[in-house]
Amino acid sequence: MTLLDGKLTSKKLRARFAEQVRSYEETYGKKPGLAVILVGEDPASQTYVKNKELACLEVGFYSEVHRLPESTTQEELLELIAKLNADDKIHGILVQLPVPRHIDEVTVIEAIDPKKDVDAFGYASVGRIMVGNPDFLPCTPAGVMALLDEYDIPVEGKNAVVIGRSNIVGKPQAMLLLHKNATVTVCHSKTQNLADITREADILVVAIGRAKFVTQDMVKDGAVVIDVGMNRDENGRLCGDVDFDAVKEKASFITPVPGGCGPMTITMLLQNTLTAAKNAAK
Ligand code: GUN
Repeated sequence: MTLLDGKLTSKKLRARFAEQVRSYEETYGKKPGLAVILVGEDPASQTYVKNKELACLEVGFYSEVHRLPESTTQEELLELIAKLNADDKIHGILVQLPVPRHIDEVTVIEAIDPKKDVDAFGYASVGRIMVGNPDFLPCTPAGVMALLDEYDIPVEGKNAVVIGRSNIVGKPQAMLLLHKNATVTVCHSKTQNLADITREADILVVAIGRAKFVTQDMVKDGAVVIDVGMNRDENGRLCGDVDFDAVKEKASFITPVPGGCGPMTITMLLQNTLTAAKNAAK
């Protein structure tokens, strides 16, 4: 079994991005810039946003974090997005989800200029992903593909099974695997005989948000197992959607949690912001 090390792979990629940032700055006299907006005090979101901010500084981006109170109105949030859309220091805009219930998520995402939609959640970005001509790749699925690439794991012709059909991970993940010529099956909470399907997977991507849901009997010998989950176990420790200790005995490659997909997601956000900055300079 080989660990798919997202921390190490991220370090390598981020060093490459830092070089590209230096050359961008030399050419254009400014840095790629990312604005992150967080509404409310959700603790998990606060951690994610802090990590995104630190990653921006690590590669030399210009970074703005707008921390807004829970009571922020949708109108106020849309005003801020409009200002950032027009700000040429800012190449990427990200609104950390979830937003409070009185704010409509779709309206907010759609307010972001598609050229700055570095999360790739807007309709324009999703459409481009669907037809295989993306400006920005969705960060978590792109991180999974980058890990497969880094470890020279072939995808073409393989049986890939994705558990989870969210707009953020499952659906775009299926699309990216399909574009690499995998045969893709998407499973979800209504899937019957789930284990029969997962046991056929050469590549198994798990994104359902249930601690240690995938057990050893659900995995084929030699499968590549990628765990996008981020949960707390009964002792309050971080764990994924896969029962790592048992499944690692069967897998050929497996991601740890933490240190697998998490850092890669942020690395792909950096990549998208760099792409947005380069596109803006064209
Ligand atoms: N909340 C959970 N994951 C994400 C993500 O990838 N982007 C944003 N903006 N919010 C999230």
